Amino acid sequence: MPTALVTGATAGIGAEFARQLAAGRYDLVLVARDAARLEAFAADLRGQYTVDVEVLPADLASEQGLTVVADRVAQGVDLLVNNAGIGLNTAFTKVDYAEEQRLLRLNVEAVLRLTHAALPVMVERGSGDVINVSSVAGFGVLAPGSTYSASKAWVTNFSQSIALSVRKRGVRVMALCPGFTHTEFHDRAGISKKGQPGWLWLSAVDVVRDGLRDLRRGKLVSIPSVKYKFSVLLLRHLPSTLMYRLAGDTRGKGRQAGT
Ligand SMILES: NC(=O)c1ccc[n+]([C@@H]2O[C@H](COP(=O)([O-])OP(=O)(O)OC[C@H]3O[C@@H](n4cnc5c(N)ncnc54)[C@H](OP(=O)(O)O)[C@@H]3O)[C@@H](O)[C@H]2O)c1
Repeated sequence: MPTALVTGATAGIGAEFARQLAAGRYDLVLVARDAARLEAFAADLRGQYTVDVEVLPADLASEQGLTVVADRVAQGVDLLVNNAGIGLNTAFTKVDYAEEQRLLRLNVEAVLRLTHAALPVMVERGSGDVINVSSVAGFGVLAPGSTYSASKAWVTNFSQSIALSVRKRGVRVMALCPGFTHTEFHDRAGISKKGQPGWLWLSAVDVVRDGLRDLRRGKLVSIPSVKYKFSVLLLRHLPSTLMYRLAGDTRGKGRQAGT
């Protein structure tokens, strides 16, 4: 059976990747920091599906955690899902540098390092897939002072660039760019969800289903749902002066425009 390694696998989009991949008969390697929660989730999956589930507790914002996971990835996996990511809810001029550094390490460096560890084996075999979970927030400067959007712009651009370099070798790399999705993300960052109307929110089930379908179709960028495809189209073609007018620094005020 093929093996998939999913980072940030105990909650939200990552947990849903684990479920849908187990249902699709992938053996799993699950990564997150909370070892007890990882073990409990792995036991659930083993009980529900006939797949092997390995757990790898690691903090991907630390050098030590990244090394452990990169070593496992370099042993060979068929699908790597770089999903773990965080947002912040503090204005840039007030935030601790250590928090910004943590965001950059997790949202950017971990994606870089694990993709770099995965691809040589995949290219050698002539097969393999990488999904990097990015965000629609990476398509525009809607939350001034948000380094989250910048980190996701990097993930989307990086994924497309690497995808073009390896696709003739039988390897697929895709950026998955969801909009607002019901997960633990906003609560963890202390970002209120009240500012966004209900119709804007996606379910992790739909996001992952669309992402896996788009990977099979060979897309380089997947934007789940028609409403967010349309939003991205607007963001790409809006005159920058209009975008700057629409942008509002809501960080540190209980809600944030970036997801
Ligand atoms: N939710 C949204 O609206 C939304 C929209 C667009 C894009 N995204 C992106 O989707 C991805 C998944 O987000 P989510 O909404 O599913 O988040 P979530 O529900 O908060 O889940 C985050 C997962 O990542 C793990 N994690 C957090 N920090 C980690 C670290 N330093 N090292 C290893 N694992 C870590 C968490 O487990 P532990 O705490 O145990 O480590 C958990 O399993 C992120 O890249 C996010 O930027 C989310």
